[in-house]
Amino acid sequence: MTTQRTATLSVEGKTAELPVVSGTVGPDVIDIRSLYAKTGMFTFDPGFMSTAACKSAITYIDGDKGELLYRGYPIEQLAVNCDFLEVAYLIKNGELPNKTEYDEFTTRVKRHTMVHEQLSRFFQGFRRDAHPMAVLVGVVGALSAFYHDSLDINNPEHRMISGIRLIAKLPTIVAMTYKYGIGQPFMYPRNDLSYTANFMYMMFGTPCEKYEPNPVLVRALDRILILHADHEQNASTSTVRLAGSSGANPFACISSGIACLWGPAHGGANEACLNMLEQIGDVSHVNEYIKRAKDKNDSFKLMGFGHRVYKNFDPRAKLMQQTCQEVLGELGLENDRLFKLAIALEKIALEDDYFVSKKLYPNVDFYSGIVQRALGIPTQLFTGIFALARTVGWMAQWTEMIADPEQKIGRPRQLFTGAQTRDVVPLGQR
Ligand code: CMC
Repeated sequence: MTTQRTATLSVEGKTAELPVVSGTVGPDVIDIRSLYAKTGMFTFDPGFMSTAACKSAITYIDGDKGELLYRGYPIEQLAVNCDFLEVAYLIKNGELPNKTEYDEFTTRVKRHTMVHEQLSRFFQGFRRDAHPMAVLVGVVGALSAFYHDSLDINNPEHRMISGIRLIAKLPTIVAMTYKYGIGQPFMYPRNDLSYTANFMYMMFGTPCEKYEPNPVLVRALDRILILHADHEQNASTSTVRLAGSSGANPFACISSGIACLWGPAHGGANEACLNMLEQIGDVSHVNEYIKRAKDKNDSFKLMGFGHRVYKNFDPRAKLMQQTCQEVLGELGLENDRLFKLAIALEKIALEDDYFVSKKLYPNVDFYSGIVQRALGIPTQLFTGIFALARTVGWMAQWTEMIADPEQKIGRPRQLFTGAQTRDVVPLGQR
């Protein structure tokens, strides 16, 4: 990294020379850490429109090109050539594993798929109709009450084992959440299966009969997990980093990430998108909803459309649409009503001036709900699957932050707009 260049900011007679820093690729940044000391002013950037909050070497997005790289590798190549645990290894360790490393890693993950038996009793405390994300926030947060032997965030060995535990146990916990909701017994993991096949087994198997996951559907779900594994400094990842910056343990941090992911502007969009398609119901209603999406006085938004960073296309959406076709083909659902509706909606929106001028394109969530629904995953669980996959990214980002010697507690400042100092008038005189 070079820091020879500077940017000069002059304000009310004070001048600040601020270093300009380059990464390996992407926009340079102006290092404003000394700005307050030099000028007495803060910067103001709600929503982080122009702020790089950290250095990171994990994921790179070029929003104009529609490019997504994990550790330098294009998502299109990873989605076709690797399985989820290979990608998890890459995101976590920086390099793709060789065969020995892959075998060691998968064995390690598989050894941690069971949860403490007492944790299974947590579920009884929830209503059967609880939203899965509410359950996940609680149960994942509760892991910190069970794994006391890996909570020292300053110990690299503890950080590593916590990461493995989270990656290994999330499928078990997500499947238990589903089983609890439908009143079926929890299924213990089967470590002879692949990570994703085992997840499908725990979701759809029962103790009554043999269940063998369909390899085409396993591959499709595995691809969904790859596409969701990390995405740079998005809202939930930033939440994990901010929570972790105080020294909170990784289980608590991932739980905070799950809470943030739940929102419909973020991971909750896949559930919201499928509900929207159901609400639209038929191609004949598309124009009416497009009109509503464009109306400033209507809160309706086209869910699964738009992205803060992608302003051309979301490469994950392209891969997801392809996966959608494969899954529907495998299941003989080529004429799926919602898929046809989604295609029609996408076409009309992409030809509409409003969406074109604002550079609003389908994002990853536009097609993921249709694929997940076809796989038999209930709508309310879609964001839980996202959380399962993103745990890999969250843990890598959290680990990177803890190991960063420049890391400080995250403490944003504010532009105060409230009352100035005033005296309290006693209650009887007010
Ligand atoms: N439908 C209609 N109008 C939209 C939409 C949409 N989906 N998205 C953005 N706009 C409009 C928005 O009203 C604004 O208009 P104006 O400039 O006239 O005020 C303009 O486009 C820019 O949008 P913004 O909300 O300022 O952009 P943002 O970068 O703050 O928000 C977003 C990005 C993803 C939150 C937003 O596009 C959105 O809410 N989309 C729908 C929810 C969704 O699909 N989220 C999933 C994102 S990808 C997966 C993930 O992150 O988890």
